[in-house]
Amino acid sequence: MSIVALPSLRETIAAAESAFIDHFNAPAEFVVAAPGRVNLIGEHIDYCDGYVMPFALPVYAVFAAAVVPGRRTIVFSAGGDFTDVEVNLDEPIEPVDGCWGNYAKGVLAGFLARGIEIPDGFDLCLASDVPLGAGLSSSAAIEVSFATLLEAITGTTLGKKEKALLCQKAEHDYANVPCGIMDQFASAFGEEGKLVLIDCMKEEAELVPFERDDLTVLISNTKVSHQLSDGGYAKRRHQTEVALKATGKPSWRGVTMTDIDAVQSELGDEVYRRARHVVTETARTLDAAKALENGEMETLGKLMYESHDSLRDDFEVSCSELDVLVAAAKELGADKGVIGARMTGGGFGGSTVTLCRTDAAEEVANFLAERYKVETGIDAQIMAARPSQGALVYKGA
Ligand code: GLA
Repeated sequence: MSIVALPSLRETIAAAESAFIDHFNAPAEFVVAAPGRVNLIGEHIDYCDGYVMPFALPVYAVFAAAVVPGRRTIVFSAGGDFTDVEVNLDEPIEPVDGCWGNYAKGVLAGFLARGIEIPDGFDLCLASDVPLGAGLSSSAAIEVSFATLLEAITGTTLGKKEKALLCQKAEHDYANVPCGIMDQFASAFGEEGKLVLIDCMKEEAELVPFERDDLTVLISNTKVSHQLSDGGYAKRRHQTEVALKATGKPSWRGVTMTDIDAVQSELGDEVYRRARHVVTETARTLDAAKALENGEMETLGKLMYESHDSLRDDFEVSCSELDVLVAAAKELGADKGVIGARMTGGGFGGSTVTLCRTDAAEEVANFLAERYKVETGIDAQIMAARPSQGALVYKGA
C-alpha cells in the first residue's frame, strides 16, 4: 500500500480549531481554508503569457482566528514546523528572512495598500496539510487562506482574481520569489471535479470538467527540495525575458519557433533552449486541453512526457529524483495502466504527477515507490488526488 491516505478537510479544520483553543483558551470565530495545487501540464509558462492547467488539491492550509477588539497586534501561532509570529498593525510590516509568516504579512500589506482597514488585532492558528517543499504550493495555500480570512474579518470581498493577484504580489515582495499567477489562481478558483485552465495573459481562469472515476492522478513527492528563492527560478524567468526582448515581440503570446530560430545566434544555446521550452510548452498545454476534451488520453499522456523532457533538457529545472519517477512511470507504460507522467511545479525537486487508470493506481504507486527507493534510498510520499474545492470560509461572516 504505497498510496498515503490524506486527512479530510474536516480533520484539518478540527486540528486548527483545537490548536486555537489550546493556545488562546477560547474558541475560534473564523475558520477558513485554501488548498495547494498540482499542475497537470503547462510548466514555467505562467510568467510567459502561456496557458497552464492545474487543479486544487484536497490538502489545505486552514486558519482559525478570533478578533480581539481594541488590540493592535496579530498573533500567529502555527505549531509544528512553524514558529509563532507577532505583527503590530501600527508599524510597517517587514518581512523576516526565512519566516513562514512572510506569506501572511505580504497579504496583510496588500489589504492595507488597498485602503482596507483592519480595525482590531486578532489571534490565529494555522494547520496545514500541504506538504512543504513538495512543489505543491504550500505557500500559495497560506497566502490565499490568509487573504480569505482577512476578507471574512473585514467584511470585504476582493473577488477571486484580485485576491489571487494580491497573493502573488505578497509572494514577490515578502518571500522573494518572482512567481507567476498559477498557484494562487488554482487555490482561489479551484472547484471539485474541475481543472483550472488559466490564460495567463488575460489572467482568466476557465473551469474544465475532469470527473473521471476511471482515472487517478498520483502525486509522488521526491522529498528532495530546493528553495525557489535560491535563484534558479528567478534566473529562468529572467532568461525568458531576455529571449522575448530579442524577438522584438511585446508578449510570448503568438511567438513561434520561427521567431526564436531567427534570433538563435543572438540568444546563445542556453537562452535559446529556454525560449524553445516556452513556445513548445504553450502549444502542448493547448493540445492537452483539446485532448482531454476529446477523451484522447494517449495524446494527453504523450504531451505529459514531452513536457517533462522539455523541462529536463531545455528548461533544466528537473533533477535526477524527478527523472527516476517519470522514467519508472514510462517504463510501466499504457499496458500497466500509466497514461503519462511529468514533474510538476517549480522543479529542482518536489513532485511528479502521474496520470493512470484507477484500477491500476495501487500497483503503479507500488512500482514507483519501490523503484524510487532502490534508485535513491528515499521513501517517496505518494498521494492520489482529485480536483477539489478552492478557498472557502467554513465559519464566520
Ligand atoms: C512555481 C511558481 C508558479 C509557476 C511554477 C512553474 O510553482 O510559483 O508561478 O511558475 O513554479 O510552472
